[in-house]
This record gives sequence, structure tokens and C-alpha cells, in this order.
Amino acid sequence: MNANAASRIERRPWGKTKSGEAVELFTLSRGGAPTVAITSYGGFIVSIVAPDRTGARADVTLGYKDLAGYLGDGSYFGCLVGRYANRIAKAGFTLDDKRYTLAANDGPNTLHSGPDGFCRQLWTPDVVSGKDGEALQLSYVSPAGEGGFPGTLTTKVVYSLREDGGLVIDYTATTDAPTVVNLTNHAYFNLAGEGEGAILDHELQLESDAYTPTDARLIPTGELRPVEGTPFDFRKPVAIGARIDAADEQIQMGHGYDHNFVVRGTPGALRLAARVVDKKSGRVLETFTTEPGIQFYTGNFMDGKTLGKSGKPYVKRGAFCLETQHYPDSPNQPAFPSTVLRPGRIYRQTTVYKLGVVK
Ligand code: BGC
Repeated sequence: MNANAASRIERRPWGKTKSGEAVELFTLSRGGAPTVAITSYGGFIVSIVAPDRTGARADVTLGYKDLAGYLGDGSYFGCLVGRYANRIAKAGFTLDDKRYTLAANDGPNTLHSGPDGFCRQLWTPDVVSGKDGEALQLSYVSPAGEGGFPGTLTTKVVYSLREDGGLVIDYTATTDAPTVVNLTNHAYFNLAGEGEGAILDHELQLESDAYTPTDARLIPTGELRPVEGTPFDFRKPVAIGARIDAADEQIQMGHGYDHNFVVRGTPGALRLAARVVDKKSGRVLETFTTEPGIQFYTGNFMDGKTLGKSGKPYVKRGAFCLETQHYPDSPNQPAFPSTVLRPGRIYRQTTVYKLGVVK
């Protein structure tokens, strides 16, 4: 991929929030690499336009046609999820003997931090320069108590395009009181192009020997279950649709895949977690992360009623998400890798989404 030129950012006004604050849209480009658009509202990835094997470019992420769509978003299409991605059981947790209560928005549980999460906040954007050229930094100071979480949390997220065209997302956060943190991006991908039907024929490989099975409300039971001999075994490439309706209790409860996988290797080291190939277009997505887990979600709750950015319906299983993260409900699961952040320490996570092509 010709990405030799330094990364450039074009910025433009993109409307106003409901309270009248100015929102911007930033488009990152680098030679022939995929272009990536991100908005300062919610840190949403608004588009990733990538070539297929013939060089034809298409937008491979789901989203809305304008800011109004994002202001009304309920699907988290590409947003920056925080303070805590995925679920926290019974909308609360105990830290240092103190109980904290969050907003329940998924039955009795909290999903993606409740209604005031990072996806619904306006971030402060800055174009910064780094070794790859221009990068976008989004910053947000979350006041203590926001969404029920303790500690003033200062978060910075830097989006850059690597020389090989990979989109690098670097997260850092600090706090003034003990708290829990788990940040991710919730991009929905369809490598055939957004709105181009189901992703069941895409082939997935996951660098995971185990996953975290859940109860009926998708809260992990605490077990790390080997994938061997189950529909969760993606150690070799398999079509996403091959076992998605299997008579497996976990598949049935997730209405397909909606599970956290344990990424092989050492958390903190940037390593390959997932590879998806769409043989028809030739597009390939590789996901690298420093995180211990990755949520593989197959758009099981999409129903074709939402029309996407180019007017096409977003059908059931019309996209897949690979959300790099700590395991869901870690604040209530002492055996899971810790999500506690204390004053004086820096939370860090890096994820790379790299698009390419196969012949
Ligand atoms: C969750 C799903 C949820 C989706 C959209 C995923 O991270 O695991 O259960 O439906 O996000 O909110």
C-alpha cells in the first residue's frame, strides 16, 4: 500500500450539538492508504474508505449520513466507548470497600457506561504532529461522579495513520481518585461496504484459545472456557456464518456471537488479535491490540429498520465488531485482569485496525 506520504488531516465544521456547541469532522489520509473520518462529538469513527483488490474504494464502516444521526445514535456505530466498555452487572461495583452505583440501561445492568458515556460527550480536538505526520488528539475531562464513576478522569485519545496504512488508536487516562477504566472503539465493519448485506461469508481468525461465557443477560460467569470443539473456535479461519445459529447454549443466548475472547499473548504487548477476510472484495482487516480481550459481536440486534449513511438498510448481521477491551464486568470479577486505575498511574491501551487486500 502506498502510504509513503506523511499523514494529513483536513478539518471542517460539522454542525452543532443540541446545546449549541460546535462539532468538527476530521479526515485523515496518507497516500493510497484508507482514509478515516472522525468527529469530535463522541469520538465516532464516521467512515473508513478502503480499496478492494481492484483498487475500487468503499466505506467499510457503518454510520449515519450527518451529525444528527450521531446525536440520536443508539447502536454505538464507531464511537469511543468509556469510561467502561461493555457490561457491568447490577449497575454497580465495590472499590476499596465503597459501593458505587451506575445508571442501569440494559435491564438491571450498565452497558457501555450508561446514557452519559463518552459516546455522548463533546471532545476537545487538536491536530498534533508525530512521526507519521499529522494525528488527531481528542481530550475529555470526565468530572468525578459522571455516570456514577468515582474520580476526575482525564482521557486523551490519539488517532494516527501508520506507514503501512494501519489506523492506530492510542488511549491514555489519569485520575485523581481510585476508579475503573475500560476504553474501546465500537466500529461496525462490513468489508464488502456498509449496507452491503450480511457478513456471514467473511472469514474470521481469532488469536484466542478461550472465551468468557456469559449468563442470559451477557454477564460473564467468570469462567474462561476453551474454544476447542465449540462454535467459538476461530483458531483457523472459518466463515462467520458457519456456526452462528448452532444449537450451542452460548450462541443461543448471544443470538449469535456477542462474546469476549481472551487474546493470546501478553497484555500490554501490541499483538495480532483478529483477522477477517472478505474473499469477494479481497479486503482484509487485521486488529492488533495491547488489551487482554476482544468482544466479537455480529450485529445480532440490527433489524433493517435503520437506514445507513448512504440510505441502505442495516440488516441483522450486516456488520461485525471487534472491540478490544478488558473483560466485561471486570470490576465485579476479582479473577479477571484488573481495570482499577489509581492516582499517579497511567491507563494505556493501543489498538490498530489495519486494512489491506488479498489477491
Ligand atoms: C455488546 C452488544 C450490544 C452492542 C451494541 C456490544 O459491545 O456486547 O450486546 O448490543 O455492543 O450496544
